[in-house]
Parts: sequence; structure tokens; C-alpha cells
Amino acid sequence: MKFNELVFSGVQPTGNLHLGNYLGAIVKFVALQQRYSCIYCVVDLHALTQPLSVWGGPKQLAHNTREVIAAYLAAGINPKQSILFNQSQVHQHAELAWVFNCVARMGWLGRMTQFKDKAGKDRENASVGLFTYPTLMAADILVYRATHVPVGEDQKQHLELTRDIAQKFNNDFAESIAALGAGDAFFPLPEPLIQGPATRVMSLRDGTKKMSKSDPSDYSRINLTDDADAIAQKIRKAKTDPEPLPSEEKGLETRPEADNLVGIYAALANTPKPAVLAQFGGGQFSTFKSALVDLAVAKLGPIGAEMKRLVADAAYIDSVLAEGAARAALLADQTMKSVKDIVGFIRR
Ligand code: AMP
Ligand code: TRP
Repeated sequence: MKFNELVFSGVQPTGNLHLGNYLGAIVKFVALQQRYSCIYCVVDLHALTQPLSVWGGPKQLAHNTREVIAAYLAAGINPKQSILFNQSQVHQHAELAWVFNCVARMGWLGRMTQFKDKAGKDRENASVGLFTYPTLMAADILVYRATHVPVGEDQKQHLELTRDIAQKFNNDFAESIAALGAGDAFFPLPEPLIQGPATRVMSLRDGTKKMSKSDPSDYSRINLTDDADAIAQKIRKAKTDPEPLPSEEKGLETRPEADNLVGIYAALANTPKPAVLAQFGGGQFSTFKSALVDLAVAKLGPIGAEMKRLVADAAYIDSVLAEGAARAALLADQTMKSVKDIVGFIRR
């Protein structure tokens, strides 16, 4: 079975959008528009899987949802071309997730490292939604029968699970799928797109921890809404070691903080890491940091400013969401009708 190429990805509206989200995901979303049809979602249903204190309650959720859309637009995603919307406006995501809850096995979900990290020691107190988070993610992707999924490195395991779910559904219902005339596979096995120098941006305070929305120290990350002064201060204070920068990439192997800053520079400048080292290798860290400040301010400053402008215009953002949701729902509805026929649900 040949599937049409289609890109799908999502970002959670949990606040503090940072450089990791930008370089690991959003920049790639923009570039992929040249080659593919793309659907980009704000996964507000997923935000609820965390404790209320993390996602911040109803007002904060609505604000954060608009802020992610503002980031998509400010980064250069074209809402006339790509589909932009929030997950809760297209009910088929939740509907397909239920079916996938019954396809996925407890053992598969129990192995997910993101669940283990987020649930921590107190698993009894984690929401049930946090445990089934990956089945909803699989539904997000497969309700459009998407074939390519740009994400950061941390989402690789969830993509593997998505493939397992698609495969098991195709096998379990093979006869019914054939009877429908859908060939030998109803769902594609979607591929992760994890490429480039910044698939895992690390904390500015600790090069062994990933940059994260939930790190208590704001100095650990560069937020997309940080102004030039904040960006400069955070980079100047970023942890480094006393050695000068190496001239070759293998010199970064045991130096996670240096490696991270070089990776960030390379990603922002859209150039390979060896080229960055050829330019700055052998020199002092302070020289490199000054250049990184200039580059980061030049690239991120206009995006942050545009995000603030867009967030202030809630009516415009909401109109983008409504239009995107209507386009997405047409596609999702087709898939869900077939899924119902395949499973044996009687429908109108
Ligand atoms: P989230 O906000 O957790 O939904 O993440 C949105 C996207 O950003 C996903 O594709 C993540 O893989 C990506 N991402 C999050 N943190 C990082 C990071 N530190 N480095 C690279 N990509 C990241
Ligand atoms: N789990 C992803 C994250 O935390 C967000 C997400 C939800 C997603 N559904 C998705 C990403 C579908 C890609 C495709 O980063």
C-alpha cells in the first residue's frame, strides 16, 4: 500500500516555549513546508496529563495555546498552506485514541521513559492520561495517516510505539481492511524526522540535562519571548569549562557544555558544527560567546517580538485555529469513518 506523503507534528501548550522547542522542532516545521503537505497541532489534550499546577489552569491553557500558534506563525509557518489548529477542536483525535488504548498493551506503555520521568517516584498519583499519553499521540499522527513526523530526539520512543500500534491494528484487522478495499495496510508506519545539529538542546546550566520547560531555573533555557538583554545574560552565564574551544568535533566529546553551545550556534547559523569549530577553534570561550549572543539576538529577537504582537491579537489567532480545525476535521473524519467500518462500529 502506497500512502501519500504527509507531515504531522505537535507541541504542548505548557508555557515557556524555549530554544529546544524552536531548534528541535519548529525550525524544521518551517523548512518542511517546501516539500510536503504539513499539519501542525497544539496538543492541548496532552497538556492535561500533567498536574494542574504544571499546565496552570484554564486561563493559562488558553494563553499558552495561542502562544504556540504565535510561535508557529512568527517562525514562518504559512497558515494558508499548512494546517494549524488545536487538538481539542478535532474530536476524532480522542475517538481514535480510545481505539488505540485497546490496541496498545500495558507492557508497551509501561516501558515509556517519558512516563517514568514525568511520573517520578509517585506513580500511584500520576494521571491515567499520563500513562496513555502515547496512544493519543499515535492517534494525532494516524488520524491523518501521516507518514513523516519531525520531532526532537526525546520523542523517538513515542514514534516507535506509534509504529507498533499501526502495525498491530493492520494485523489484527487485516481481513476487514482487505474487505474495505484498503489493501494490506490501513495505517502507514510513520517515520520520525530527527536531523541536524540541535535534535537535543541541553540546559545552559548542566550539559547533561535537556533544556526543558519545567526546569526551575530560568537560566537553564532561552525562552522564545526573552528580550535581547535576557538572551545575552543567559548565554554569558551559561556553564562552560576553562579550556579554549577545540578545532575538531571529537574534541567536544567529553565537554557537554561546549558541545551544546557549538550545536546551538551551528543550528542558528544553519551551518555544520565542523564549520563553527573551524572559525572559533583555538580561541577563547568569551569570543565565541559574544558571537553567539549576537547571532541568537539577531535570530530570536524578531521572533519573540512578533510572537508578542500576535498573542495580543487573540481574535486573529482564534480565526487561524478555527480555519485550521475545519480543514483538519475533514481529513480526520474520513479516517475515522473507515476505522469504524474496519472495527465493526455501526455508524449513521
Ligand atoms: P513539547 O513542548 O514537549 O511538546 O515539545 C515540542 C517539541 O520540541 C518536540 O518535538 C520535542 O521533541 C522538541 N523538544 C523539546 N525539548 C527539546 C530539546 N531540549 N531539544 C530538542 N528538541 C526539544
Ligand atoms: N509528545 C510530543 C512532545 O512532548 C508532543 C506531541 C503530541 C506530538 N502529539 C504529537 C509530536 C504528534 C509529534 C506528533 O514533544
